[in-house]
Amino acid sequence: MRIGIDEMAFATTPFYFEMDDLAAARGEDPNKYKIGIGQDRQAVVPPTQDIVTLGAQAAVKLSATALKRVSTLIVATESGIDHSKASGIYIKHLLGLNDYIRVVETKEACYSATAALQFARGIVALNPQEVVLIIAADIARYGLNTPGEVTQGAGAVAMLISADPHVLAVEPVSVPYTQDLMDFWRPLYAENAHVDGKYSNQVYVDFFLKTYHRYQQITGRTLADFAALIFHLPYTKMGKKGLEGLLGDDHSNIAQRLRSNLQAEQTLSRQVGNLYTGSLYLGLLSLLQNGDVQPGERIGLFSYGSGAEGEFYSGILQPGYRDRIGEDQLTALTGRQRVSIEEYERLFNGQLGMSAADIEFDVSNDPSPFVLTGQKNFKRLYRIQ
Ligand code: COA
Repeated sequence: MRIGIDEMAFATTPFYFEMDDLAAARGEDPNKYKIGIGQDRQAVVPPTQDIVTLGAQAAVKLSATALKRVSTLIVATESGIDHSKASGIYIKHLLGLNDYIRVVETKEACYSATAALQFARGIVALNPQEVVLIIAADIARYGLNTPGEVTQGAGAVAMLISADPHVLAVEPVSVPYTQDLMDFWRPLYAENAHVDGKYSNQVYVDFFLKTYHRYQQITGRTLADFAALIFHLPYTKMGKKGLEGLLGDDHSNIAQRLRSNLQAEQTLSRQVGNLYTGSLYLGLLSLLQNGDVQPGERIGLFSYGSGAEGEFYSGILQPGYRDRIGEDQLTALTGRQRVSIEEYERLFNGQLGMSAADIEFDVSNDPSPFVLTGQKNFKRLYRIQ
């Protein structure tokens, strides 16, 4: 039985800043950010958005008939809003999903959406009529004026996992790899991540090569068997480091096609920045919209989460995939409003974070269909607009 991704959609915040503006404010050469890091714009998060609103915004773009069939909802995130209650329960309410559903949250840095996908495959294999909704939603925060600031971002990707999928049939062989490392972490008391960025870059490439080569040993496949290799993108240059670590001096037609399809993967990420758990899957959407890939061809996916865990797996692109990847995601981005660096800093500092205080947010500037209106008696309050 073929099992995999049947439908996908993406949402981000209504605001962004230009990297040129951040470079000017931080006294850096804009080319460091645009070429050295590989980002053009970054999503800016108003206090009225969190993983619940972003997740609901992505999922509501999926077809209503498919949402009615969802039997399990898994939110993959490292931006949790509660140590106990799963954020997906708020999302289930906002979307009006059936009460006869199981809802949980998964966590392992930027990797856990891939774990959710593998768990979902198991659920569907046991009960082929089930549809699993995975929402990878995150807000990447490193802090103002930090080296990691340029690799922030926010958004959510929603995916339906089912039998006979229309987008990507996931193949049986996958190679996970885990080691106890401190390259990036966020203790319970911290609103921003701690990161050893250079170390993390090395671990990422090392885990990619280890998992890819093992996959190759198990399957006997070579580069010629892939139309594209796509990567978790904390920033777009990271995917390039991964791919070049494998290709080296190979400039054959096969290698050049992989390079060109990596650029197609990077297109959307350049506009929003880091989605943490959703980044690999935003990359898949971006590849499918902008790349040179045909139904029946194989796509390799490298998922990475600091701490650290990597997984390389593959899938076969399905006929008719274009009808199942939502509205034109680039058009969705053109409606965003550009903000100044001053405004971004104000919004960054205005987020609810660890505050237990009652607060009511001004939602009049947020045109999103779902908003966080504030907090009362330690409870987050959401509204459908
Ligand atoms: N023009 C073009 N490129 C330039 C440049 C310029 N004017 N100035 C610098 N660069 C290049 C550098 O050569 C470097 O490229 P390289 O990585 O290929 O060597 C890149 O820009 C970044 O410069 P660097 O000096 O290394 O930046 P930094 O010390 O400010 O830190 C990160 C960059 C990525 C390490 C930092 O942003 C970070 O830690 N981000 C978080 C990463 C993360 O989240 N990891 C965990 C998840 S995988």
